Amino acid sequence: MKAAVLHALGERPRYEEVPDLVVSDGDVRIAVTACPLTNFDRAQAAGTHYSSGHVSLPAVCGDIAAGVLDDGGHVLFGSASGTMAEFAVTKAAWTSPIPPGIDDAVAAAVHNPGLSAGLALAWRANLQPGEAVLVMGGTGVTGQVAIQLAKQLGAGRVVASGRNPERLASLLQLGADAVIQLDRSDDEVRHELRDQAGESGYDVVLDYLWGHPTELLLDALGGGHDMALRFERTRLLQVGVMAGATIALPAEVLRSTGLEVMGSGSGTVPPADLIVSELQHLMTLLADGRLRVEVNRLPLADVEDVWDRDQAGRRTVLIP
Ligand SMILES: NC(=O)c1ccc[n+]([C@@H]2O[C@H](COP(=O)([O-])OP(=O)(O)OC[C@H]3O[C@@H](n4cnc5c(N)ncnc54)[C@H](OP(=O)(O)O)[C@@H]3O)[C@@H](O)[C@H]2O)c1
Repeated sequence: MKAAVLHALGERPRYEEVPDLVVSDGDVRIAVTACPLTNFDRAQAAGTHYSSGHVSLPAVCGDIAAGVLDDGGHVLFGSASGTMAEFAVTKAAWTSPIPPGIDDAVAAAVHNPGLSAGLALAWRANLQPGEAVLVMGGTGVTGQVAIQLAKQLGAGRVVASGRNPERLASLLQLGADAVIQLDRSDDEVRHELRDQAGESGYDVVLDYLWGHPTELLLDALGGGHDMALRFERTRLLQVGVMAGATIALPAEVLRSTGLEVMGSGSGTVPPADLIVSELQHLMTLLADGRLRVEVNRLPLADVEDVWDRDQAGRRTVLIP
C-alpha cells in the first residue's frame, strides 16, 4: 500500500510503497478516507515536538484520521502505527463512529482542534457560563474551533487575536465579540489587549502562540505593576507554540495579577470516557451545523509538496 513515510526527523515525508499491514487479534483494519495534516504532525516530524524522540524511523506519519471499517461503518480513529496511508490498523476501542451525513474530511479535521479546544475549555480551565475568554491565535484552525466552543459553553465574552486580517474579520461571524490585530507595534497590541480585557479581565486565556505575543499579554495584564490587584483570576492555558517555545515571565506579573499558568496537551489528557463523550459531542455539533471548520482536500500523493504550506485557517486534509 502507499503511505506518507518519514525517514529522518527534519525531513518531509515521502509518498511511497510500504508493506501491507498485519491485523492482530483485537485490532481492526481501516480503509483510510481522510488524514488531517496538523501542526503536531509537522512539529513531530521536524524534531521540535516533545514527543519527537519517541518516533521510530522510518515511520508512517499521522496519528488520527477518518476511515471505513470492513463492515462499512465510518469512524474517526487514532493509531500508533500511522494514519497517513491507504490502510491503518488500530484497536477497536480507539475508534469513534462518524454519524451519517458528516463528511469524513470535516470530521477528521475537527478531531484534533475540537478535542483540544473543548477539553482545554471545559476540563482543564473549567470554564463557567458568563466568563470572558481570550483566544491567542484565534485565526488558526484550533483557535476558530475554540471560539465556537467557548460560545457553546456559555462564555460571556470571547476576544480573539491574530495576524491575517481577512481571517480575523471572519472570526466575528464565528462568535467572537472582538478581535485584536497582532502585527502592529508592541504598544498598540499591549494597549488593545488591556482595553479588551475591560474592568474584569479575561477569566480564561487559550494560548496557541506563546513567545512575544504572550509576553505582551502578560505585560498588559500586569499593567504598570503597581500594588493594585486588577483581575481576580486569569487561567492561562498554554496549548501551542506558533510564535515561540518560551516566554520571559517577570516575577512582578505573578505578584501583581491573579495569573494561573497551566497547559493542555498530550501529557495532560483526561480520562478516556471524557475523550469519547467530547468526540461524540463534536460530531453532534457538526451534524447540527453549530460547528464549522474549513478544509482543503489534497491528494495524499502530494504530501511532500504540501507538508510545510501555510494553511491560513483552513485545515489541509490528505485523501489517500
Ligand atoms: N496541545 C494540543 O493538544 C494542541 C492541539 C491543537 C493545536 N495545538 C497547537 O496549537 C497551535 C495552533 O494550532 P492550529 O491548528 O490553530 O494551527 P494553524 O491553523 O496553522 O494556525 C496557526 C496560528 O498561529 C498563528 N501564527 C503562526 N505563526 C505566528 C507568529 N510567528 N506570530 C503570531 N502568530 C502566529 C497564525 O496566525 P495568522 O494565521 O493570523 O498569521 C494562526 O493563528 C499549534 O502550535 C498546534 O500544534 C496544540
